[in-house]
Amino acid sequence: MKPVITLRTATIADLAVLQHWDQQPHVIESDLDGNWDWETELLYEPAWRVQLMAELDGRPLGFVQIIDPAQEETHYWGDVPQGLRAIDVWIGEAADLGKGYGTTMMQQAINQCFDNESVTAILIDPLATNTRAHRFYEQKLLGEDESDCFIFRLSREDWHAKP
Ligand SMILES: CC(C)(COP(=O)(O)OP(=O)(O)OC[C@H]1O[C@@H](n2cnc3c(N)ncnc32)[C@H](O)[C@@H]1OP(=O)(O)O)[C@@H](O)C(=O)NCCC(=O)NCCS
Repeated sequence: MKPVITLRTATIADLAVLQHWDQQPHVIESDLDGNWDWETELLYEPAWRVQLMAELDGRPLGFVQIIDPAQEETHYWGDVPQGLRAIDVWIGEAADLGKGYGTTMMQQAINQCFDNESVTAILIDPLATNTRAHRFYEQKLLGEDESDCFIFRLSREDWHAKP
């Protein structure tokens, strides 16, 4: 049977799993900063962010964060217009990589963003060194080669035009 992947709100009950994933080499490599301060952040629910656990047939699979970059408190994305969302994503266990799960997680997260009619585009900024993630966004989500680019921008029109 096809595995079922779902996204649900992350809670403090996910703390140990998220901290365990933080120790995995593929997660560390993809996020040099790496200090997500889960004890605090899982209890904090600002209007500009959702933190989601992906589950595969009911077991923890990965994490997705969606923020509104115009409202986000540290202004990480600078002076950006309204109507955008930015996504962070990772799969927790190395054994789950490269099986199509990340594509499904991202499709669900992107659809969730565009369900809000005011959202016009989605931003993703993998590390420049994370060439596998670049390929993932190009091939699985954008359907084009933008390999000289380290910020990926997916517009509502392009997403809905995909076959
Ligand atoms: C990026 C990520 C979410 C993609 O999910 P996934 O389930 O591994 O990807 P899929 O199986 O749906 O698609 C496979 C593609 O993802 C890419 N990919 C990226 N990192 C990969 C990894 N560590 N292992 C395998 N494939 C990876 C490859 O381009 C692959 O395409 P290919 O098989 O043609 O080479 C996942 O690999 C991951 O969590 N990587 C580590 C964390 C990370 O880089 N997050 C993104 C930060 S912006």
